Amino acid sequence: MPKHKTLTVQPATQPLRGSALVAGDKSLSHRVALLGALAEGTTHAEGWLAAEDTLATLRVLRALGVPIAQDGDRITVTGVGLQGFSAPADALDCGGSGTTMRLLSGILAGQPFATTLTGNDALRRRPMGRIATPLRRMGATIESHVVGQRELPPLTITGGPLRAIDYTLPIASAQVKSAVLLAALFADGPSTVIEAGPARDHTERMLSAMGAGLTVDGPTIRVVPPTAPLRPLGDGAGGPFRIPADPSSAAFLVVAATLVRGSHIRLPDVGLNPTRTGLFELLQQMGAKISPENALTQGGEPRGDLQVAGSELNGLPIGGEIVVRAIDEFPILAVAATQASGRTEVRDAAELRVKESDRIAAVVAGLTALGAKIEERADGFALNGPQRLRGGTVDSAMDHRLAMALAVAALVAEGPVRIERAEVIDDSFPTFVPLMRALGAEMAWECEGR
Ligand code: S3P
Repeated sequence: MPKHKTLTVQPATQPLRGSALVAGDKSLSHRVALLGALAEGTTHAEGWLAAEDTLATLRVLRALGVPIAQDGDRITVTGVGLQGFSAPADALDCGGSGTTMRLLSGILAGQPFATTLTGNDALRRRPMGRIATPLRRMGATIESHVVGQRELPPLTITGGPLRAIDYTLPIASAQVKSAVLLAALFADGPSTVIEAGPARDHTERMLSAMGAGLTVDGPTIRVVPPTAPLRPLGDGAGGPFRIPADPSSAAFLVVAATLVRGSHIRLPDVGLNPTRTGLFELLQQMGAKISPENALTQGGEPRGDLQVAGSELNGLPIGGEIVVRAIDEFPILAVAATQASGRTEVRDAAELRVKESDRIAAVVAGLTALGAKIEERADGFALNGPQRLRGGTVDSAMDHRLAMALAVAALVAEGPVRIERAEVIDDSFPTFVPLMRALGAEMAWECEGR
């Protein structure tokens, strides 16, 4: 059994101040390895996120015969081309990473051998029918663990040449979209995917930069299988692909600085792709002082520095297209809402129930344990603010984003908050605790003897 760790966070006694370089983007770090493997040539990346989830992607790619060197935040991927993968000796362990399992499934659907994909307990509870259905229609054979109506891991995928598909996504999901787009590279003709909402578009941007015949027209994405090798990723000028800081990780620092009175922080080089900035836009509508500076696009991805100052917030109704553009940020948004004046009501977010935890139930349980009054809805939650939060002991639900959201809630609570099983933070943001401390927050691992 892995050893669990408890993080104790003290209420803030001083403003948060300073500059913090947030860890690299998780979605881009997975993709630079997975898509770099499909190229012919070498992809160098900097700013790469070395965290549990992304390291799982490197592990499975190596088991498929892809040479990858990793040193801190730099990786070198020697692309094997679309057909250069080799059959792995054993089942591939994707750890807790849904992105690894779902995107890799799209690639494996085109490989002429059988591969079994498995993962930890949390991943083995997550739905895979959403990728198995379109990939089977394209001709892949996929066996899953069927429980009632649901298809769960492990998956055994036997791939080969595929049929083109015209697929309307039943849910707004970048992972499902990406699995189909990657499989479409191996198809016998052009495929189209029609989106249900503006899910993150990193796969499309990277495939275009690699020379794949991909066009986007509103919600419709068309892929023509390549007739020439895909080019490795880079900055477009012969340099490495530079991964910006993860806006989903920056979100915790942004909300912390917004809520702790008198704070002023700077976060350099944060990814500002519009499919990822929903939370920042919602916070600005609520009254937050978040100013982007030095905006530019590099390696096909918009990015810039964020200045954040403490401010009062007002609640607001949230639903519709912005939900998918903020999908990973609802735990921290709920924390912000507890400190906002008036009502915040989140709808259209039922997808939160199938993330690393059931994030609607888990966020309601975590904030309720700190004394908040928050109503659980089938597709979201609702609360009236501002609310007083008390200290206490809470559980991470083994969900990295819940653990970090509760750590930020603790800064505005009336007493210390102990977060059990908080080591899960390492799934996406291993430098969260040292960065928060450097900005002036007081938090410590219990085994460090606070
Ligand atoms: C991701 C897509 C989203 C997101 C996840 C990362 C990606 O999942 O929640 O953290 O990198 O494609 P869904 O596609 O399931 O919405």
